[in-house]
Amino acid sequence: MVNKIGVFSMLENKTIVVGVTGGIAAYKAAEIVSRLKKMGADVYCVMTEGAQAFLTPLTLRTLSGNPVITSMFQEPVKWNVEHIALADYADIFLIAPATANIIGKIANGIADDFLTTTIMATKAKVVFAPAMNVNMYNNPVFQENVSKLKKLGYYFIEPVEGNLACGYAGKGKMAEPENIVQYLSKFEKDDLKGVNILITAGPTREPIDPVRYITNRSTGKMGYALARCAQQRGANVTLISGPTNLDKPQNIEFIQVQTAREMFNEVTKHLEKQNVIIKSAAVADYRPQNYNNYKIKKTDEDLQINLERNPDILGYLGKNKGNRILVGFAAETNDLKENAQKKVNKKNLDFIVANDVTQKGAGFGCDTNKVTLFYADGSQKDLPLLSKNEVANLILDEVSMLLKRSD
Ligand code: PMT
Repeated sequence: MVNKIGVFSMLENKTIVVGVTGGIAAYKAAEIVSRLKKMGADVYCVMTEGAQAFLTPLTLRTLSGNPVITSMFQEPVKWNVEHIALADYADIFLIAPATANIIGKIANGIADDFLTTTIMATKAKVVFAPAMNVNMYNNPVFQENVSKLKKLGYYFIEPVEGNLACGYAGKGKMAEPENIVQYLSKFEKDDLKGVNILITAGPTREPIDPVRYITNRSTGKMGYALARCAQQRGANVTLISGPTNLDKPQNIEFIQVQTAREMFNEVTKHLEKQNVIIKSAAVADYRPQNYNNYKIKKTDEDLQINLERNPDILGYLGKNKGNRILVGFAAETNDLKENAQKKVNKKNLDFIVANDVTQKGAGFGCDTNKVTLFYADGSQKDLPLLSKNEVANLILDEVSMLLKRSD
């Protein structure tokens, strides 16, 4: 089965339990269930009491074609100890929408209704799609719960920014059903199983003195999305990251660096075993020529800092490519096509992911990106504005195709 952007569904015959909790986004659960069914999944829904205030079980029963569980003590419809059976039976457990309450309960081991007991009992991959008020989302208690669950191996589909039902605007709107279903379908894809992929992410920091440095606006979101998605598709991922505020993706080898020279050293150290390298990091091309051991004091004079070239990591990789697949990124503000195509050829890349960082929703910091892929043979592929996760998966689709061709 093929979805809208041409990706094969891996959800056929998978059992997906959809837990629906009490938020206005509950109505979107109906579309998620309908899409999952269309992808060939066997879907079972569990609704909390709160969810039933927003959506009727009948809607989900009709769409899923299966009984909906609404209470811990209702007559079992299919299994003996129902919450254990459903927990065992699930390939994926999706909670959409996931309120701050359900996330808080699971993070703190509370199992006081059917949904929480089943989540606690399952060994399936559990994916939360949070939806809530922006201030609740940013609340440090909530964020700590999310961090804790991520460390424990739970997955999160980030909410997006937008106008919220509560009247606020900001991050907290549940990801669109289409994107949630796409995430799950990639989740079960294992086309990169056993492939060694090295990804660089984030900015580098080039110190001037103990308190100052030169850096850029990269947050690491694009590179971390690549690392997460590659890992979910079965790759052995090494992520070499400059300083960011992001949580380390789970189940990958993570290497922290600060400067371009450190990144160069780690990349070359880990190069040998890699099949694929994706360089999404925003590496500083220059560093201060001299590092001052003490804080530079201000005077009445102007100050000049001489800069010297940093190693061109991608250039080095191109020269030592072997039969690896090498993917670069290009952050451009003008002449995107010309500049990107030049880099593909000069650096001996299979393709480059070019983003015009002046465009709204593209490049640094945001949760979305709009990129064009330029290939060594001069062809190009324009992608629409998508979440960084979706962009990451489409880049990995290209990598997967190139790997198949080189088999
Ligand atoms: O991190 P985010 O906030 O999510 O933002 C994402 C992003 C904008 C950083 C990302 O999409 C992106 O464009 N990354 C590449 C940024 C960049 O440094 O582009 P560039 O055109 O200057 O460099 C071209 C390529 O050479 C890149 O693959 C870069 O990693 C590499 N490079 C650059 C300099 C250098 N000394 N060594 C390198 O390897």
